[in-house]
Amino acid sequence: MRIVLGVSGGIAAYKAVHLLRLLREEGHQVDVVPTRAALEFVGRPTWEAISGRAVTTDVFESVDEVRHVRLGQEADLVVVAPATADLLARARTGMADDLLTSTLLAAEAPTVLVPAMHTEMWRHPATVDNVAALRDRGVDVVEPASGRLTGADSGPGRLPEPEEIHAHLRPLLDGGDAVDGPIYAYAPLAGTFYAPHPDAQPALAGRRVVVTAGGTREALDPVRYLGNRSSGRQGVALAEAALAAGAQVHLIAGIVETELPAAGPRLSLEHVESARELQQAVAAQAPSADVLLMAAAVADFRPADYAAAKIKKTDDVDAPTITLTRNPDILAETVRARAARGGPTVIVGFAAETGDDATDPLELAQAKLLRKGCELLVLNRVGEGLVFGQDSTEIHVLASFGVQGVLGDVEPAHVVGTKREAADAVVDRASRLLAASGGRF
Ligand SMILES: Cc1cc2nc3c(=O)[nH]c(=O)nc-3n(C[C@H](O)[C@H](O)[C@H](O)COP(=O)(O)O)c2cc1C
Repeated sequence: MRIVLGVSGGIAAYKAVHLLRLLREEGHQVDVVPTRAALEFVGRPTWEAISGRAVTTDVFESVDEVRHVRLGQEADLVVVAPATADLLARARTGMADDLLTSTLLAAEAPTVLVPAMHTEMWRHPATVDNVAALRDRGVDVVEPASGRLTGADSGPGRLPEPEEIHAHLRPLLDGGDAVDGPIYAYAPLAGTFYAPHPDAQPALAGRRVVVTAGGTREALDPVRYLGNRSSGRQGVALAEAALAAGAQVHLIAGIVETELPAAGPRLSLEHVESARELQQAVAAQAPSADVLLMAAAVADFRPADYAAAKIKKTDDVDAPTITLTRNPDILAETVRARAARGGPTVIVGFAAETGDDATDPLELAQAKLLRKGCELLVLNRVGEGLVFGQDSTEIHVLASFGVQGVLGDVEPAHVVGTKREAADAVVDRASRLLAASGGRF
């Protein structure tokens, strides 16, 4: 594998020598690209002797080789260890004022930055902001270790030991791409996913997820309504899965038969009854959401007329006829509104299909996905004694053409298990898409 090992100017540059040795022992070709400051800590002869390759720092050295783009273009993996606060800032802004930052800009390979700095620098809002922006863009910024720093002080900011960095790179060195676990490490151009550092933030940290759950009731008169069998269990499981993935969650609950999780600092609750109330709640919440999970079973039709007083039974008249009218298509409407006014980057629709002798539910779901224009559609096959009110379920997660490439090996998903397992699979895919989108598709 061709690896670029960037080294920036921190005291921990000496540890990168051992990392270089570990990579070389495995037979990788490693081009070391130190910054000018890094050479103050470890000199060029050390890097050249151990890598067995010429080492340059400036874009105007070895110009005939066009190293400022070639190194990045040809790399299978780019690792910067240590990554200084300064390097993170330059990488975030897309500067290309030396060979290392030019290489980062030209690289199409997975990029792993391993920061090391004093705790104050790591916690400074500028660094926090730079790290968040880089992660949003798909760069794997590893959490620094905690421990003794350069002076007598200690705290987070230490470069992890070379063996630990090497272990973190393992899936990439093995040529693996899609691995289980929360993902925000994504190489946008190479189209590969890889596992983040175990200490990394959960996949949806800092993201806002809106979930709709349960059924709707469409009133006929003050006493009677048309409803459906949705219990709300799948929606609640989705809210719990999103919370577990670190998101800020807003749960819009229709009629549910299950206990709702308690509201808290990361969970807010809202109750609605009819499809039109749900429509208003979604319209209010969607613009500020990153992900919208539309698990509520929304009535397609409602009584055309609402009787303000209870409809009376009169012995001399036949039973009344109920005329229905269509409810708004909240999913399609939200997708359309997003194009005009912005809204969730990832919209996930749900389809409960019974299928029939002539039609396969998967075909119905594919058609629905095309019609609605959302990124993902979750199909569950429903019927007597199937899914509704049960703890177990069987789902297919279908991805629109626009995002199939992004999901790569993990698509399509077919989950048979508990509703929470299904919810985890949906949330996992939504967060992969969000991580890959850089804001929108
Ligand atoms: C002794 C010493 C140790 C340093 N250690 C670090 C460090 O661990 N992390 C860091 O971000 N900056 C550290 N710096 C500051 C950087 O060297 C400085 O910001 C430099 O401009 C970084 O350049 P570079 O990002 O191009 O390598 C240190 C400076 C000195 C003099």
